Amino acid sequence: MKRYVFLGVLSMYYLQVSSSSSAAHGCFCQVTGSLDDCACDVETIDAFNNERLFPKLQKLLESDYFRFYKVNLNKPCPFWTDSGLCGQKNCAVIPCPPNEVPEGIKTNGHHNKYSAEANNQECEKAETLGAVDSSLSKETRQALLEWNKHDDEAERFCVIDDEESPDSQYVDLLLNPERFTGYKGPEAWQIWNSIYEENCFKPYTVKRPLNPLASYSGTDGKTFYSWLDGQCVEKRAFFRLVSGLHSSINIHLSARYLLDDNWFQKKWGHNVSEFQQRFDAQLTNGEGPKRLRNLYFLYLIELRALAKVLPLLQRPSFQLYTGQPTQDRQHKRVLLELLQVAKSFPLHFDETSLFAGNKEEAANLKEDFRLTFRNISRIMDCVGCFKCRLWGKLQTQGLGTALKILFSERQIEALPKSGSARLTFQLSRQEIVSLLNAFGRISTSIRELENFRSLLSKVR
Ligand SMILES: *[C@@H]1O[C@H](CO)[C@@H](O)[C@H](O)[C@H]1NC(C)=O
Ligand SMILES: *[C@@H]1O[C@H](CO)[C@@H](O)[C@H](O)[C@H]1NC(C)=O
Repeated sequence: MKRYVFLGVLSMYYLQVSSSSSAAHGCFCQVTGSLDDCACDVETIDAFNNERLFPKLQKLLESDYFRFYKVNLNKPCPFWTDSGLCGQKNCAVIPCPPNEVPEGIKTNGHHNKYSAEANNQECEKAETLGAVDSSLSKETRQALLEWNKHDDEAERFCVIDDEESPDSQYVDLLLNPERFTGYKGPEAWQIWNSIYEENCFKPYTVKRPLNPLASYSGTDGKTFYSWLDGQCVEKRAFFRLVSGLHSSINIHLSARYLLDDNWFQKKWGHNVSEFQQRFDAQLTNGEGPKRLRNLYFLYLIELRALAKVLPLLQRPSFQLYTGQPTQDRQHKRVLLELLQVAKSFPLHFDETSLFAGNKEEAANLKEDFRLTFRNISRIMDCVGCFKCRLWGKLQTQGLGTALKILFSERQIEALPKSGSARLTFQLSRQEIVSLLNAFGRISTSIRELENFRSLLSKVR
């Protein structure tokens, strides 16, 4: 029975059509109803997320522990030299320390960003919208130093190279929302193409137009997805996770599109036609609805990781340390409530079908995933737009953490309930922050789909 749940989600193809407006139908026709032989349906996930999980998560992510993310945005791209148009040289964003920024500038919300002269208007736009605001108050800076000291004393599972680098800095995620930045064109396509083509276990190249918005139509009778057929279930899953991440990012930029940009205001909001271009079945040659399904798949995977990590975070010795004991305890309570909600979701995957081959097989697969994931996070250093780079890095680390948890289910279950013995499984603060924030993005995307559904139902 449970097995069907998983297979159903993985195949999710043959679905009824039910939608009132033809515009809404275009994007959502295959993203509704029950998922064939599976007890799981999109509506259940929508209701569960939008009503129960999303509001709690939103609140948690505003807490100090979760809003500050340490990241190195200054690593050079290891794979190619950038094309120059909106490359790092012309779109450089150099944050200065807050004490160097005059008070007057600080108050207008655009402080702390510096960009070299741009040679082109599009580029200039991408540059200012994509700039990362790295301002932190003096108190915060001080507090973060103390957290760090606290975290260093905790035992770690592994060292994340970025965290140790002197180039890494804390970024306040609430000041840097993920939204439209104007970053697009060949340079942005190159990022996604190298991920799909070279980092998704593809055994052979299926030629695909560089512009991923243009859909693939094979002349040899093969569709873009044919290569997935011969793959093991986990590697197919890997592709779907990457595609789900891609969908989520596109939903964010369609939902927080820069609609109006003039001298007295910037207005952000939903751009329905941008959304349709990316997800409408007809406009994408049938790929759009699959992309949305992959988003649900990603959601279920990360949700399952949250449910699985509960025993670790439940331990009395685990703290959301920020140095304010009352708040820290309160936020830990909210976090545990949230994980309980995640655990209560009735339609988790079959435990034995994914990440559960024989021991040797599982170890090999884990290593494959780890290396590929590490490589994808290096590709993120090639993203020319800094804000996109920030969210790209955070989300790949978050998904990487989710996979690390899922690959270690047995170890986590075997952890002693209390005591101070060295644990065989640990997560760093960075991993925990990225896990929850990455899930926050996916959860927000699912929530946004509801908004788009209703907006599209009004379009003729
Ligand atoms: C890492 O990604 C780059 C860029 O797509 C690719 O050329 C390279 O083969 C990948 N390396 C590994 C080990 O997967
Ligand atoms: C919405 O996005 C489209 C591109 O998909 C763009 O041409 C259009 O100007 C945008 N609409 C607004 C109001 O910004």
